[in-house]
Amino acid sequence: MAGKQANHGKQVTARAWANIALCKYWGKLGPDNAPATPSLSLALDGLATTTSVTAINRQQDVVLLDGQPAAGAARRRVLEFVDRWRTYTLVSGHFRIESHNDFPTAAGLASSASAYAALTVALAGHAVAELPTGALSRLARMGSGSAARSITGGLSALGAGRDPAAQLLAPAGEVPWGMVVAVVEAPAKEISSREGMELSRRTSPFYRAWVLTDRYHYRELAGALKSWDLAKTGELMEENMLAMHACMLTTQPALIYWSPATLAVLHALREWRRKGLNAWATIDAGAHVALLCDQRDLNKVAGKLKALAEAGAGIRQVIPCRPAGGAMVIS
Ligand code: PMV
Repeated sequence: MAGKQANHGKQVTARAWANIALCKYWGKLGPDNAPATPSLSLALDGLATTTSVTAINRQQDVVLLDGQPAAGAARRRVLEFVDRWRTYTLVSGHFRIESHNDFPTAAGLASSASAYAALTVALAGHAVAELPTGALSRLARMGSGSAARSITGGLSALGAGRDPAAQLLAPAGEVPWGMVVAVVEAPAKEISSREGMELSRRTSPFYRAWVLTDRYHYRELAGALKSWDLAKTGELMEENMLAMHACMLTTQPALIYWSPATLAVLHALREWRRKGLNAWATIDAGAHVALLCDQRDLNKVAGKLKALAEAGAGIRQVIPCRPAGGAMVIS
């Protein structure tokens, strides 16, 4: 019955891990976050979101983010997402949605990926039918493009196209690498990725070149990943990130996501690499830097970043991460 919730009080809690892309999604082909560029990512165990969805006897949804009532665009976006599930008649009635991140919800730390993946899996626990992984990934993508890849976790790929679902390339246990995330001092992001990538498509003279370059990187990365070639993967990942930021910088208004600390990490990393450290950098639509390395080198890389933080480079937190699995119901 429309507007009536059959199962008041039923609660489903899900957990999902954020992912950082080695090959980036930046640009849309059309509605529903249809990606213009194929992407590849690693889910990270240090960046989890836990979301509870409870059926309530109310006329509207209630949204709490890290214990506070959600407001503004963040709230609207969640409400639109749940409305979509009702429109598709996957769920009925209203919900109380409570979401917690175990990492700073700072700009560019991929919180929307873990947030929409966890919300998707928790909502699916209220759905009229069981939804296969592909359907969950497509639904999560409609909330946030990168969330499609947090449904599958591990090393995942999301193709370009009108309605792609993420594919798991290697589960977390098979990935020999990890990432160390350097959370840096940076002002709050003024333009979100979903808005920013649309501005890039419309205004950057480099947009077409970016899309073609990304497709090339994707093919090359797929080859390097088959043999777990870390150096080749790292170099391609850095090139891909720099190409995306070139497109961002040439967008109007210019999307300058980096802060001085971002550059300090990039310069230090080059020096460390000259001295034999095997680590490579990537940066999403924000100022924070993630360094890809062998899991055996996670502590070494984290130690270098901590020393740089102590030297006053503007690094607020260093989070070493191993690969994480896909989004799951936990209760
Ligand atoms: O999922 P969104 O809309 O936050 O976009 C993600 C964009 C990047 O993080 C910059 C790249 C990516 O593939 O995750």
